Amino acid sequence: MSSTLARRAAAGIARALRPSAPALEASAILGALPVPVVVLDADNRFRFANPPAELFFQLSVASLAQHTLGDLIPTDSRVFSLVEQVRATDAPVSDHDLVLESPRLHRQGVSVRGAPLPELSGGVVLTLQDGSTAQKLDRQLTFRGAARGASAMAEMLAHEVKNPLSGIRGAAQLLESSASEGDRELCTLIQDEADRIRNLVERMDMFSERPVECAPVNIHEVLDHVRRVAERGFAAHINIHEDYDPSLPPVWGNRDLLIQVLLNLVKNAAEAAPPVGGEIHLMTAYHHGVRIAVPGSSERVDLPLQISVRDNGGGIPDEVRASLFDPFVSTKRGGQGLGLALVAKLVADHGALIECDSRPGRTVFRLSMPIAPAVPVSRPFPIDA
Ligand SMILES: Nc1ncnc2c1ncn2[C@@H]1O[C@H](COP(=O)(O)OP(=O)(O)OP(=O)(O)O)[C@@H](O)[C@H]1O
Ligand SMILES: [Mg+2]
Repeated sequence: MSSTLARRAAAGIARALRPSAPALEASAILGALPVPVVVLDADNRFRFANPPAELFFQLSVASLAQHTLGDLIPTDSRVFSLVEQVRATDAPVSDHDLVLESPRLHRQGVSVRGAPLPELSGGVVLTLQDGSTAQKLDRQLTFRGAARGASAMAEMLAHEVKNPLSGIRGAAQLLESSASEGDRELCTLIQDEADRIRNLVERMDMFSERPVECAPVNIHEVLDHVRRVAERGFAAHINIHEDYDPSLPPVWGNRDLLIQVLLNLVKNAAEAAPPVGGEIHLMTAYHHGVRIAVPGSSERVDLPLQISVRDNGGGIPDEVRASLFDPFVSTKRGGQGLGLALVAKLVADHGALIECDSRPGRTVFRLSMPIAPAVPVSRPFPIDA
């Protein structure tokens, strides 16, 4: 890459920002930006790339200088029409949610912004942002935080509530034998309430930190099990449809915990679906390019197996959208608000992702899971990588 051209390109941007800014300062600004930025010339050769762009294309600046955009991104990609549009209109153009698939790149949900660079004939400045992955990761980290909060709460509850509670229950039972008719009723009430609180505490106990033992799991067998449980109980009045990709390889997970995750999602779907005409769709599919960075390491994990639960209910109420996966968030009468918090925790323990798209009449919870390795290793996923 010609450093003179890079400096000239940077100078052009600097002038646009502040006419007198020195070129060096502009290079430094571009270099420090956390977003990948490249400059293309009229032949789509790379004339500038900042360090995040090197990471994005997984090529050094020196190697990028030997390439054109067409060497790295399929020429039928929308990025090319965007670049042409920038040149034709001489104005900035943005495009979102692009898929960049090539032997080198596997990116989905990329936002690309292009702007003309008058200093370089036919020059275009491109910023590329791996939008949806960043958002997913952000949300995932939030869920981990929520789960961690709930697990601390679980320990506290077990310690401070469960033990004294059994004493209270035992005392009420003792009193009952010698109590009058009216007081016996009160003793029963105390015992029932103590049982209810113990159930809640036991549910909270599922949040405590334990390593997840993973193995290859046939997700369709898990979904069949969940469907049978649902149809015999809470979803007896709902039509459950299956749309499975039978060629899916096994997922890498813990069967019992995955059942728990899916039961919670299907139960919520059944509770949201209308009493008449309620529909739930269970879907599985293979999606290329869903990769996330493992927090705290340079490793990236592929999560190509998608499992979705869709319902035709009224949608997620606005007041809980922002805190959907937090514990004790509920809009239901008698709801504990623990289902999705537990889902978030178990999904994070699996190193997987969960997302939700919701509008009135259509709510989808989408779980992205890793494939079981060809030779399974008997190590659990890190609970908190
Ligand atoms: N499929 C859905 N459609 C509409 N709203 C939903 C759906 N799933 C969850 N919600 C909303 O998110 C809230 C939290 O769900 P969560 O499963 O955590 O708790 P809950 O179902 O209220 O109680 P619990 O699961 O502890 O019995 C629900 O109260 C509801 O408002
Ligand atoms: Mg629930």
